[in-house]
Amino acid sequence: MPYKLLFVCLGNICRSPSAENIMNYLIEQNNLGEEIICDSAGTSSYHIGSSPDRRMTAAAAKRGITLQGQARQFDALDLHEFDIILAMDKENYRDILSLDPQGRFQHKVRLMCDFCRHHPDAEVPDPYYGGVAGFDYVIELLLDACGGLLADIQSGQFQSADVKE
Ligand code: 4NP
Repeated sequence: MPYKLLFVCLGNICRSPSAENIMNYLIEQNNLGEEIICDSAGTSSYHIGSSPDRRMTAAAAKRGITLQGQARQFDALDLHEFDIILAMDKENYRDILSLDPQGRFQHKVRLMCDFCRHHPDAEVPDPYYGGVAGFDYVIELLLDACGGLLADIQSGQFQSADVKE
């Protein structure tokens, strides 16, 4: 069974689709398409059905990454469905866990920046109301975090009870 990764932000038009597509890019480069499956979602309903934000798409394109997908809202069923759920910031993390009042799935939910190997940041900052530099930084941070996450998966870090319900 492949690992199922879900990347979650607020709108699902900037950070989480970037994480999903960067991860897919790394998965393809490493021939792991059979082993890892990625999706993304937003905690809000603001942008359901929308394509990734143009400014985010432009920032990703500078690094050779194409953003695909349509925004959807995070659902409590995702807690069952996915093996690892990556929150972009602490608010996303809290909002995800608010759908798990008994804490049954808490072990599956992680902050994306926990996997960074080069950046000290604790959160992927929301770029929506800022300028181009903020979008570029999101891509840089996510390249770091996705690389670390992939390395952890490949080294078997998640083979234990971590991914079980
Ligand atoms: P995202 O960015 O959570 O990274 O997709 C945002 C997108 C939209 C809004 C906020 C953040 N918004 O307020 O509409």
